Amino acid sequence: MQPVIQTITETFSFLANQTDLSPSPQINQYFTRLVTSALVPLPEAQVTTILAEVESQIGLARLRELCGTGETALEVHWAKQLANAPDMLATLHDFPYYQNYRHMVQAELALLRQHAPTAKSVLLVGSGPLPLTAYFLAAEHGMAVECLDINPQANQLAQAWLQRLPTPLPITFTSADVRNLTPMPQADVVWLCALVLGQSESEQERLLHTIEARLWPGQFIGIRSVKDLRCLLYPKVNCRCCTNLQFKGVFHPENEIVNSFVVLQKPPAEPRSAQ
Ligand SMILES: C[S@@+](CC[C@H](N)C(=O)[O-])C[C@H]1O[C@@H](n2cnc3c(N)ncnc32)[C@H](O)[C@@H]1O
Repeated sequence: MQPVIQTITETFSFLANQTDLSPSPQINQYFTRLVTSALVPLPEAQVTTILAEVESQIGLARLRELCGTGETALEVHWAKQLANAPDMLATLHDFPYYQNYRHMVQAELALLRQHAPTAKSVLLVGSGPLPLTAYFLAAEHGMAVECLDINPQANQLAQAWLQRLPTPLPITFTSADVRNLTPMPQADVVWLCALVLGQSESEQERLLHTIEARLWPGQFIGIRSVKDLRCLLYPKVNCRCCTNLQFKGVFHPENEIVNSFVVLQKPPAEPRSAQ
């Protein structure tokens, strides 16, 4: 067996047997091992073999669900820490993926701005208890962000720490399922966080079609996906099903960033011809 497969199966069986995936030195160590394995650049044939082997030994959906549960536990833990920390900003810098989020948002925005240079507002779908995407978009790039999460508790946790910032940021919150959001807010960009579209391809496709149908003419959509071995951590999103959207570009990371970012646009309305 390839060493990477052994690492993944051993890590999975340790984490799957834990009753609580909240951060602790041991849980962190095992998740770090998993993430590090997914970041190794390998030839395509080897990636295919590893994913097929993990599928048969564990099931990719089970592994990704475990990662999703771990990510939510990590976000809830840090949001609570931040709400109570004596020095909130210092604690925020201690979040282990702080720089990672910062670099990811920079790369995503660089791609988006090639196609939407004047974009100023974002609807962030699935913002979660630790909306660092919203934080960086607003604090470092001057964007106004509406955070949308299906879980009102996630929004409460996020607001509790964001309202402690010394300078308020243009970030607002809505608790709703994106499926029930009619009309779609007229933000310049709808930004889909990882894990929003669900695990299965059919679930993803249904949700993407619902969103696609509600986008405004000219509105952009950015979707977090994954490529290669990073598919161990999140499901890959197949954007090809969005036949009514124009594909604009994709960013695939080659460093410690996990998610790819796909940018699409609903075609702008045809100008009315003069009669
Ligand atoms: C844990 S966060 C992941 C965010 C990730 N850290 C990122 O920045 O890409 C995913 C969030 O999506 C939310 N979510 C899942 N399905 C949703 C839906 N249909 N509408 C709105 N929010 C949703 C969940 O409640 C969860 O808080």
